[in-house]
Amino acid sequence: MSRLLQDRVALVTGAASGIGRQIAERFAGEGARVTGCDRAGEAMIICDVRSPAEVDAAVAHVVATEGRLDVLVCSAGVREIGDVYELASEEWENVIAVNLSGTFYCCQAAARAMRETGGGAIVNISSVGGLIGLARRPAYTAAKHGVVGLTKSLARDLGPAGIRVNAICPGLIRTPLTEQYFAEDAFEDGLRTVVPQGRAGTAADVADVALFLASEQSAYVSGVALTVDGGWLAEKSFAANDAAAESFLGDHLVS
Ligand SMILES: NC(=O)c1ccc[n+]([C@@H]2O[C@H](COP(=O)([O-])OP(=O)(O)OC[C@H]3O[C@@H](n4cnc5c(N)ncnc54)[C@H](O)[C@@H]3O)[C@@H](O)[C@H]2O)c1
Repeated sequence: MSRLLQDRVALVTGAASGIGRQIAERFAGEGARVTGCDRAGEAMIICDVRSPAEVDAAVAHVVATEGRLDVLVCSAGVREIGDVYELASEEWENVIAVNLSGTFYCCQAAARAMRETGGGAIVNISSVGGLIGLARRPAYTAAKHGVVGLTKSLARDLGPAGIRVNAICPGLIRTPLTEQYFAEDAFEDGLRTVVPQGRAGTAADVADVALFLASEQSAYVSGVALTVDGGWLAEKSFAANDAAAESFLGDHLVS
């Protein structure tokens, strides 16, 4: 059976950890020739996505060694958690620089390479925070909304060059970025009640969707922001569990 990304050349940012690492492995398993890059890490290109020059050099390296670039995944990301009254301007600027500006620099450099060879696919990792407002993460939320807007704009501008651009909006995915949340059992108990699928996502859940968006299986899909969140965003009950919801409805929605 032919593999979904056989001989496709892919570049994945943030590939040293979590979702980016899983995507790089999944793509390689589907036959892609994958280059991973990150701001640090072994066995990959060192590239800080905040620097347009470093991003250009990373893309140039892939084109020089592989002859082309077919797929870009932008997974490099950081986030702040804290009080909006106290958020330092440096932190605001860094979160915007990595998550939004960095994604733009990578898309721009990749698009310049892809248009030379007839097109490609770009997958940007946004967040459910790109679709709704997350508490205590104003910079992250603003940046991830920006990534969704950027994705839609680029889908229009790059479509004529045969380049599809899509975003994934993960919910709560267990990775080094979120591991600290799982220190308390109460957190997982809470997830079971607010996420319809009853669990946190895995990096593999996101990698499967990235594979779909990077491959010809999604040949007519561009400009979407696809949630991978176990249904969490689709369901916002007033009450945290079925029994409480039933009692609430019984009390308040008679006829
Ligand atoms: N884990 C989640 O629940 C979740 C949910 C929604 C969205 N996301 C997004 O998914 C992406 C990956 O997150 P993750 O959970 O795998 O986190 P992670 O921390 O495990 O991995 C992020 C990677 O990005 C790299 N990185 C950070 N700044 C960089 C820079 N300036 N240049 C290059 N690389 C840089 C880090 O070194 C790290 O290897 C991020 O964009 C994140 O915002 C994650």
